[in-house]
Amino acid sequence: MSEKVALAYSGGLDTSVAIKWLKEKYKLDVIAVTIDVGNERDFSAVRKKALAIGAIKAVVIDAKEAFVNHFVCPALQADAIYEGQYSLATALSRPLMAKLMVDTAIAEGASAIAHGCTGKGNDQVRFEVTINALAPALKIIAPARQWAMTREATISYAQKHDIPIPVTVSSPYSIDENLWGKSIECGILEDPWVEPPEDAYTWTKSPLKAPDKPEYVAIGFEEGTPVDIDGQKLDGVSLIQRLNELAGGHGVGRVDHVENRLVGIKSREIYEAPAATVLLQAHQALEAMTLSKDQLRFKQRVAMEYADLIYNGLWFTRLHQDLAAYVKSSQRFVTGTVRLKLFKGHSSVVGRKSPFSLYSYGLATYDKGDQFDQSASPGFIHIWGLPVRNQAQVQGTDKAESSLNITTPKKTGKAKK
Ligand code: ARG
Repeated sequence: MSEKVALAYSGGLDTSVAIKWLKEKYKLDVIAVTIDVGNERDFSAVRKKALAIGAIKAVVIDAKEAFVNHFVCPALQADAIYEGQYSLATALSRPLMAKLMVDTAIAEGASAIAHGCTGKGNDQVRFEVTINALAPALKIIAPARQWAMTREATISYAQKHDIPIPVTVSSPYSIDENLWGKSIECGILEDPWVEPPEDAYTWTKSPLKAPDKPEYVAIGFEEGTPVDIDGQKLDGVSLIQRLNELAGGHGVGRVDHVENRLVGIKSREIYEAPAATVLLQAHQALEAMTLSKDQLRFKQRVAMEYADLIYNGLWFTRLHQDLAAYVKSSQRFVTGTVRLKLFKGHSSVVGRKSPFSLYSYGLATYDKGDQFDQSASPGFIHIWGLPVRNQAQVQGTDKAESSLNITTPKKTGKAKK
């Protein structure tokens, strides 16, 4: 009996070819494992295809709920956005997929895991770092990284072995998608000067063709977790699907990012992430109302660390557990509702309310009902400005002024020659 390998199978060209290649080159029996994180495929067709190509077993795992509850929600609560632009859809899915691959490999008695990543991307790192952490005894095989076949060679290998070539091969783009967003690479997009052609986008309407009337949406949060849309309670998966459609229909969520990959390459990535865009915006708006200034400042620093950690494949680390504990604790008053306006490619927060709001009308108003004691301000300014005054008296302010390029008129009257 041959040894078994669990292959992370998408149904695409590379992983389809891999089923044959693993058998030919390594004499391994392939168990195809397809993980559903909301990538909207016909999963029963994917399963059948794997078996038709020669997998000894093909399983599909519905991981949508786990993905949303254990990966997407914590990242949303952390406000994790990589380099200010990328809401991390692919990056968040990889540790979950790797974990499920490990579980399946062990349950099926496989000695290795195979994945379809190339040697140039982040995903190979995320998969392998996670697999090595969870099950160091499992071998890892990366056919696409090893076989050094060009796209044409892969296609002719497929033809030679009667492997059906998916229609998506005719698409000039390489895509990855799940509930939290879609990434689009390759083809003309590799020229960072070229505007992405309209056909690169499939989740979002062109803002030009978006409705001429704005649409309002209210999102309710409980302790940092989105729980309803316009008052209607929804589970996490449905809520995200609904927002992808709603915001995508207004052209919201397009991102054009030149990004720093873990392997040192800068790459141009197009993303579509309507739900993520709107939810991150709404969540931050609610935090602005319910967290103190100091909490917000500190949390922004954590957000950057958290985003880097996700991007860099470090989900299954103690550092992540530590940061996650802080993030969870930070959310205990992040409850309330945020109202957004969707219009022609933009979403903007137009209202927010919370039972724990720190916004006080009495303190903020310029109308009657003002409770702020303005007579206390001179004393506050006196103490606050004390070190500034002290330094100015001892050391002067001339250098400080010249660094701002402010020229102080010295004397009146005519300048001497
Ligand atoms: N650049 C993004 C990331 O590293 C997207 C990667 C998409 N992966 C893919 N196999 N197409 O997370």
